[in-house]
Amino acid sequence: MVDVNALRDWRFSVDRQGIAWAVFDREGESQNSLGRRALEELGAIVERVEQGARDKSIRGLVFISGKEKGFIVGADVREFEQLKSEREVADSVTLVNAYLDRIERMPVPVVCAIHGFCLGGGLELALACHWRIATRDEGTRVGFPEVRLGIFPGFNGTARSIRQAGALAAMPMMLAGSMIRATAARGMGLIDELVPSRAKLAWAARAAVERKRKSKPTAFWKDLVRQWPARGLFANKLRTETAKKAREEHYPAPFRLIDLFETHAANLDGMKLAETRAFAPLMVSETSRNLRRVFKLMEMLKAQAPKDLPFKPLRVHVIGAGVMGADIAGWCVASGMEVSLQDLNAEQIAKGIAAQKKLFARKFKTKPLRDAALARLIADQAGANIHRADVVIEAIVERLEVKQSLFKSLEGKLKPGAVMATNTSSIMIEDIAEPLADPGRLVGIHFFNPVAQMPLVEVIRGAGSREEEVQKACTFVTAIDKFPLIVKSSPGFVVNRVLGPYMLAALQRVERGESKEKIDEAARTFGMPMGPVELADTVGLDVCASVANVLKIAPPGGSKLDQMVAAGKLGKKSGEGFYTWKDGKPQKAKPETPWDKAELERLGRELVDPLIRECERVRDERIVGSADLVDAGVIFGTGFAPFRGGPLHFLANERRQLESNPNVEVLRRPAAE
Ligand code: NAI
Repeated sequence: MVDVNALRDWRFSVDRQGIAWAVFDREGESQNSLGRRALEELGAIVERVEQGARDKSIRGLVFISGKEKGFIVGADVREFEQLKSEREVADSVTLVNAYLDRIERMPVPVVCAIHGFCLGGGLELALACHWRIATRDEGTRVGFPEVRLGIFPGFNGTARSIRQAGALAAMPMMLAGSMIRATAARGMGLIDELVPSRAKLAWAARAAVERKRKSKPTAFWKDLVRQWPARGLFANKLRTETAKKAREEHYPAPFRLIDLFETHAANLDGMKLAETRAFAPLMVSETSRNLRRVFKLMEMLKAQAPKDLPFKPLRVHVIGAGVMGADIAGWCVASGMEVSLQDLNAEQIAKGIAAQKKLFARKFKTKPLRDAALARLIADQAGANIHRADVVIEAIVERLEVKQSLFKSLEGKLKPGAVMATNTSSIMIEDIAEPLADPGRLVGIHFFNPVAQMPLVEVIRGAGSREEEVQKACTFVTAIDKFPLIVKSSPGFVVNRVLGPYMLAALQRVERGESKEKIDEAARTFGMPMGPVELADTVGLDVCASVANVLKIAPPGGSKLDQMVAAGKLGKKSGEGFYTWKDGKPQKAKPETPWDKAELERLGRELVDPLIRECERVRDERIVGSADLVDAGVIFGTGFAPFRGGPLHFLANERRQLESNPNVEVLRRPAAE
């Protein structure tokens, strides 16, 4: 057994009042996650406190974080791969659950003091304690994000969260993987006490030990939904709601959680054991493995921004207050920055600023915070704030000469060290930079539309862009909570380049008379968030036509796409495209007879083939740093079926399967090249 005096991830001490302090401060990491060693050491702490309680040398135990920010972000996802079989998963989970049960049965009070993220396994540890205190801080969040990794809580968090909060609140929270503010968590019963700041946490924890505070489970009458037949009805309602967001064949975890609830929630102790039985197969499933891969790809994208760069962007100046510029400005403000917005047209600026109120209403819960955000967004028609900005982003018309002359006039006005960037979607960075005195300064920072919803931002390295400028641009992108992907300046960069042939091939099928509804359904069956025809209408058919021109893949002799653009049928924004749009929704015709599932699967695979082929070329031409980064960019930039782990990963898996089982007809593809 580990010696509590030689812990590496925890610090353990007993103070003069006999209170034991278990301070989680994982060695060599900026965040606390529950890795194997941290859990083994937790076992040693449990043993030591049990012994102290027996010999009366310990009167209580407090769990608290030693990190400046954050309690526990969850189990260590990097270590999940070590567990190869259901048996291994079940054994390792059972061991941890035994520790948590011993914490729960501890004869002295056990208090959990939370500041910052308390997620997944962290919340499960907290729920095994007798009393939970959290700071009211905006950054303090509790939740179970497990479903996003293709699993559900496995350290008995399912049963314990239902016990504390009731199934009506706990089940939707686990199914959505949402992260809840401390005040709301208190309202639900997951947290027992709030303190104003981190400085008050230890004191409050000590007082809770002294007063032997013990949280009460939710009242029986509040949780009648656990009784039959209400439980069955509630489970069915949850199934219907969940099915609207995810398909069971793609994302089974939430559906298995509902099954677990329906079968076992009447007896929460029984539910704990059943949880482990249902958890193990999910953990070793292909879906979960792929979703874990997506998580790692996300970390890889974030890691493209160097950690030690002495560049802290606080002020941004955006030029062009159109579709993109205004939303980029709004997003930067919502991320805490001060932003000035410039345009030739004052009305356009006012309209762009007013449009951000919706975003601020969503992001900020109180009026003072919303007002403060609005005050940070400054109209600046004359560009008076350019010289103060740390980052200047151009988002004006997509014309080379206009952009060149703007940057020539800007160059001398920027402060030294400020990032100078263009949001161009199709012009080569080196072409825009060509007439500049210092062309190496210009980089691309390419946002996607709608800015607030798209997590990826391509950072474009022009032929002459200096590495330092690229790195600063990545730092800025992570500072506004987006994922940067460093891309070589080349037509279509990555996302538009891979989407172009995919969408165009689908539109050509429609031209040839295939059903657009069936095409869209087939792509969704494959796992795309939206079918390619609906996507073309959503992006705008004018934008699609211009991407096709840039990529030189527009069919010769004019296509239906060109005719529609010429007729002003631009898709969602004009109300008419391939679909007719009503209240922001495409009007889709229902098939006379339901489509055959296998046929949809075959068609879906065929539809994504041009996208996957283009990803191979992007990789081979080294447009981004690695094959994994191609997958990362395409998942976060296009929504490519996350449960498949990325287009190149999917292709490699498919080839492997085909080699081991050459009779799998569904996987055979036409030779596309
Ligand atoms: P937009 O036409 O909606 O807005 C452009 C704005 O720039 C207009 O308000 C115009 O008055 C202003 N403007 C033009 N010349 C100016 C100048 N010299 N100084 C100050 N303001 C000036 O255009 P949108 O769609 O916002 O595109 C802007 C840039 O972003 C383009 O380079 C485009 O390729 C790129 N982009 C567009 C995306 C989209 O989906 N619309 C996606 C990603 C990038």
